[in-house]
Amino acid sequence: MPTIFDELLERFHAYLAGVDHDLVANEVARIGWDMPARSLEPRALGCLGYVDSIAALAPADAKPLTRLVADHRGELGWGQTYSAADFGQGFIDNYGWLEVFGTRGHFVNDAVAGGLLILGPNIVYPDHHHIAEEIYIPLTGGTEWRMGEGDFHIRDAGEVIHHASNVSHAMRTGKEPLMALYLWRGGPLAQKSTIGSEGRG
Ligand SMILES: [Fe+2]
Repeated sequence: MPTIFDELLERFHAYLAGVDHDLVANEVARIGWDMPARSLEPRALGCLGYVDSIAALAPADAKPLTRLVADHRGELGWGQTYSAADFGQGFIDNYGWLEVFGTRGHFVNDAVAGGLLILGPNIVYPDHHHIAEEIYIPLTGGTEWRMGEGDFHIRDAGEVIHHASNVSHAMRTGKEPLMALYLWRGGPLAQKSTIGSEGRG
């Protein structure tokens, strides 16, 4: 009998397998999807109030994954890397992630981490960078993303956003919340990001 976590991993994989993009296809082929489960204590966060609207906003191909997460939010080990001292209490109440697999996720993987990030409406996730290379795919649209010294651009659900190692990036949500799928590879997979656009972390 598959667990809710098996279903989560399967839907995460199925969503990625449907993304028509070489970078993603290569990563999907490279990941060993038969991962051992890890038992995590459920943890709730303020941002979980957005998961129903996220599931409603998500396009058809992201519905199975976002709906499962919304329906089982209370069984999942949600996390935060920042504290109120970093970006304020308003950010903390509107931010969180779920690591599906990785060094601390629901499945054990020391080579690559994959999960889901939530940001509530009208939130700025300021410039930050990290050693790990990162692929993001927003599952809801309307958020502005910026990388390096570039400007903010609105990205639709399903667009593939690639952050090379140590390149600074930032996000700014609009009137709707964001859920974005992420993959991290090639660095300490649980490292807290370095804040700011200058320097190398
Ligand atoms: Fe990042």
